[in-house]
Amino acid sequence: MIVSPSLLSADFGNLERDLDMINRSEAQMLHLDVMDGVFVPNISFGFPVIKYVQQLCTKQLDVHLMIVEPQKFVNEVRDTGATIMNVHYEVCPHLDRVVQQIHDAGMKAGVTLNPATPVSLLRDIVAQVELVLLMSVNPGFGGQKFIPNTLNKVRELARLIEETGSKAVIEVDGGVNDVTGRQLAEAGAQVLVAGNYVFKAEDPLAAIHTLAALS
Ligand code: DX5
Ligand code: ZN
Repeated sequence: MIVSPSLLSADFGNLERDLDMINRSEAQMLHLDVMDGVFVPNISFGFPVIKYVQQLCTKQLDVHLMIVEPQKFVNEVRDTGATIMNVHYEVCPHLDRVVQQIHDAGMKAGVTLNPATPVSLLRDIVAQVELVLLMSVNPGFGGQKFIPNTLNKVRELARLIEETGSKAVIEVDGGVNDVTGRQLAEAGAQVLVAGNYVFKAEDPLAAIHTLAALS
């Protein structure tokens, strides 16, 4: 299992220490949640922080934009050094164009679905993206409870990916722990985002190892 710890739950007063832990861990990616207070009812951090993180972190940066009009910020995301840019389906009336812009900027494109947005809406875009991010909580906050219907969505998405010949990987974000992680692995998830489960753990390296060992 690919693990993408979510920086939102890190200790921002000790960011270098937490990033050093990530560098020493089995995580392959680091998940960065950008919020605008409009699309989601919270504000997190922006591009200067991600640039700083990029300088200190050896893992692939997986940027999750929870903002309206993400097409305005493709170059800013690229300039942080991030390799994956996730945009929400719900804010992209011209999703095909945004995906092309992300590719033209040299990044992998991810499309993200809120819990109530059906997987079937991806039929005509899934072959163009490298990643689909399924939200298993309503976006905006760390530490929320996993929504069990996500397991059905993972299975449906796996079928859609097979039917369309897409190479997209399935990533899940929200309420992931050892129990829900195992269920998600069985359903077909390939990347797990985990905030509180990793950063609030007594032994974050062991928490990452537990998720990484799932298959
Ligand atoms: C929620 C964010 C998540 C969050 C996950 O809006 O997109 O990435 O950090 O946190 P946990 O794993 O604690 O639910
Ligand atoms: Zn996220």
